[in-house]
Amino acid sequence: MKTIILEINPQKIDLAKIKIAAEEIKKSNLVAFPTETVYGLGADALNDKAVAKIFQAKGRPFNDPLIAHIADIKELYRLSRKVPSVALKLAKAFWPGPLTLVLKKSELVSGIVTAGLDTIAVRMPADDIALSLIREAKTPIAAPSANLFGRTSPTTAQHVADDLGGKIKMIIDGGKTKVGVESTVLDVTVEPVQVLRAGGISVEKLKEVVGQVKISKELEEGFRSPGMLNSHYSPRAKLILVEKKGDAQVEEVRRLASKYIAQELKVGIMAKEENQNKYNGFEFKVIGKGSELDVCATNLFSTLRSFDKEGFEIIIAEGLEEHDLGLAIMERLRKAAAPK
Ligand code: TXA
Ligand code: MG
Repeated sequence: MKTIILEINPQKIDLAKIKIAAEEIKKSNLVAFPTETVYGLGADALNDKAVAKIFQAKGRPFNDPLIAHIADIKELYRLSRKVPSVALKLAKAFWPGPLTLVLKKSELVSGIVTAGLDTIAVRMPADDIALSLIREAKTPIAAPSANLFGRTSPTTAQHVADDLGGKIKMIIDGGKTKVGVESTVLDVTVEPVQVLRAGGISVEKLKEVVGQVKISKELEEGFRSPGMLNSHYSPRAKLILVEKKGDAQVEEVRRLASKYIAQELKVGIMAKEENQNKYNGFEFKVIGKGSELDVCATNLFSTLRSFDKEGFEIIIAEGLEEHDLGLAIMERLRKAAAPK
């Protein structure tokens, strides 16, 4: 299959182009599109044949449910049979934006989208290309991140083409995504609401709106219990995460880098800006200032992918602080460092 790349300027959206992409969605085809978090691999969420193609193209197991993307809050009531007041409150506070709500599903939603669960994940993305596409397609769009299963999520159209070129009908190129990590997944069927995946809306921000927020056990334990650690978000290179702090962290990064270099492996360090001068003589890339976690989030996946592009075999990553977007970053780095 030849993959069509459709360039759309996010500052000046060409509706004629959006209509071309929406036609493909209506014809049960896959269209990758930008959102504010990462690129999504979209299909008509109410069409089983189309949704099945998502799993096929990504190599994703059918037991991993998808997020339905909507452009109008009314759609939430079509997709869910029970919208608790807390869900509406959260939607009003954070939509459009990087928050996914897990609710009881309606009859309209088929089991292929939800992986047989009785719940459906829904979000309204804060991206005008994504919103226009959903409106023109006149259907909710099911979309996982547009990467091969288990791999680093895409933050540019080129990343999508690298993974899925030749396997999908179309990629809308709307430039680099802003947030850089996926949406926060929040279960609102339980009380208090529970974070299942850290993401673009921080736990701190959620608490400002709903007060009590529970963190899934997996997240709270930092994925330290081995059974819960499924490799995900992985670059091709082996990733080693160094969670120590301060000077001890730099020392450990240098020690590990030297060890693998001695084994004649191509080693790269992913460093905070303030530490870069401590890695003279090593190859390194800067993710951002440790104090600017939102910038680090934006750069995370593209930095990991650039190590791969340049043929690095080992990536040694400095851990970041675990508040605000740092929680989402660390969740991803720990999973990326898990044994494959
Ligand atoms: O930012 C994002 O969320 C991006 C963009 C494209 O919107 N999408 C994304 O989708 O990251 P995906 O499929 O890569 O991740 C969705 C996550 C998975 O961890 C999945 O298990 C979880 O959401 N999820 C989906 N439906 C669920 C449900 N009914 N209950 C619990 N978790 C669910
Ligand atoms: Mg994903």
